[in-house]
Amino acid sequence: MRILVTGGAGFIGSNFVHLIRKERPNWQITVIDKMSYAGNMASLDGVIDDIEFVKGDICDEILIDKLVANCDVVVHFAAESHNDNSLNNPWPFVESNLIGTYRILEAVRKHGKKLHHISTDEVYGDLELDDPNKFSEETRYNPSSPYSSTKAGSDMLVRAWVRSFGIHATISNCSNNYGPHQHVEKFIPRQITEILENRRPKLYGSGENVRDWIHVDDHNSAVLKIIEEGLNGETYLIGANGEKDNKSVIELILSGMGKKPGDYDHVTDRPGHDMRYAIDSSKLISKLGWKPKYTNFKEGLKATIKWYIDNQDWWKPLKAETEQKYRKTGQ
Ligand code: NAD
Ligand code: DAU
Repeated sequence: MRILVTGGAGFIGSNFVHLIRKERPNWQITVIDKMSYAGNMASLDGVIDDIEFVKGDICDEILIDKLVANCDVVVHFAAESHNDNSLNNPWPFVESNLIGTYRILEAVRKHGKKLHHISTDEVYGDLELDDPNKFSEETRYNPSSPYSSTKAGSDMLVRAWVRSFGIHATISNCSNNYGPHQHVEKFIPRQITEILENRRPKLYGSGENVRDWIHVDDHNSAVLKIIEEGLNGETYLIGANGEKDNKSVIELILSGMGKKPGDYDHVTDRPGHDMRYAIDSSKLISKLGWKPKYTNFKEGLKATIKWYIDNQDWWKPLKAETEQKYRKTGQ
């Protein structure tokens, strides 16, 4: 099996490469990553000698055509992934998430290869705090931000290429990931590293917003399951019943790092801030027999805090620039 992993130097993609190396040692892995601010070669330490790494852009038609021709399956993680950035400058999101996905689809169609498209639960918009329902494969698309709308558009492109051109593709929409190698712009690593640099964590607005946390290895074990057993044209939602409001997560991080739970600041809220995400993953569980391993969020968070304490060389070079960006928006 030859897999082409797009965005394999980013958070989830690099963890996926490590997982495949371990679980499917005979698979040949090629990574394509343009090495945006979010790509980090150090995230591939320990596997780089066993894979082919190509620095390049998924929007590059000729390069993508060549790489897709030489693989069996494309696992498409590459995207601009951060909502706050999409509110400051939407263009890179339109480019990578829509045009990039289009290039991949055209190459997959031409060469008759399989595609697994990685997407997000944010395509469904948000839920009220007291809504008894969760997102399911039947929920109507209703994205809120430039990020989520370009991801929704990329899902629609994949569905259209399946129906109109008969390509072989699956889609997964996952909830919020946490774990090692996540960029310090994101919520959990930002707060851990603020504390490590002797500053106070920063909560947007009231902090009532709920995210459905899943460990990155659980997301990736589900992706592997779908690649191997998923049905053509199907969408699978990935989540692990990890709903927590942001205020509680900050308090858990603070107490896990020996600080008082109230030692954080409220900062400017995100415009259009989605209130709540919650995933019903019963299709994945019942049809493919997937099960998450990291069901204790507190334990997973503890291990993640330890990873950021032990790997300061990985995140220190990214931190000052990230905080400078946040200062401009009062966040
Ligand atoms: P990330 O920002 O950490 O990594 C994205 C990677 O893609 C980076 O290495 C970047 O250099 C690369 N990339 C971006 N544009 C590219 C382009 N045009 N050509 C080649 N490479 C490019 O993101 P992540 O958090 O690892 O997310 C990966 C995927 O998972 C995305 O598609 C995202 O929408 C999806 N997702 C993320 C989460 C989450 O919680 N982080 C949850 C559900 C789905
Ligand atoms: O739901 C899946 C999505 O999860 C993915 O598609 C995205 O790629 C990923 O970035 C994530 O999106 P969110 O916007 O939910 O994640 P983020 O880490 O940016 O923020 C999580 C919550 O924490 C959100 O409600 C905003 C809030 N927040 C964030 C930051 C950075 C804060 O309160 N303070 C902060 O400093």
